[in-house]
Amino acid sequence: MRIAIGSDHAGYELKESVKEYLKSKGIEVLDVGTYSEERVDYPDYAKKVCDEVRNGVDFGILICGTGLGMSIAANKCKGIRAALCLYPDMARLAREHNNANVLVMAGRLMGKELANWTVDAFLNAQFQGGRHERRVKKLEEIE
Ligand code: RB5
Repeated sequence: MRIAIGSDHAGYELKESVKEYLKSKGIEVLDVGTYSEERVDYPDYAKKVCDEVRNGVDFGILICGTGLGMSIAANKCKGIRAALCLYPDMARLAREHNNANVLVMAGRLMGKELANWTVDAFLNAQFQGGRHERRVKKLEEIE
């Protein structure tokens, strides 16, 4: 499995922690930045991760302070279904019902363990299809 991960300065510390967690699970991680706590603009990193997802990595992970800016930016990219998840059940349902392909988390609101549990819930869940398939198709029609 390959995952692209990105953050702004407010998500940097949590991104580094999540990145190490993913690597410890044997997952290949493509880190598009940012690479320090120097101030940057979250849309730049949302676009980088979404481009990688569109180019074939399995999932994207984005982290900013609240997760809000990243999710707004990512959902403007064609083919991206980004879900801001603050705890594991949200992440499970984002995969099962919404077929989310980008997990967004909040660096200023979530602890490291909670973020790891949220990542696990996202990666362990499967899209359920069925009635959800029709709804996800309607999302594509809006694009
Ligand atoms: C950066 O200060 C902050 O605005 C950003 O990380 C994010 O929370 C925006 O939605």
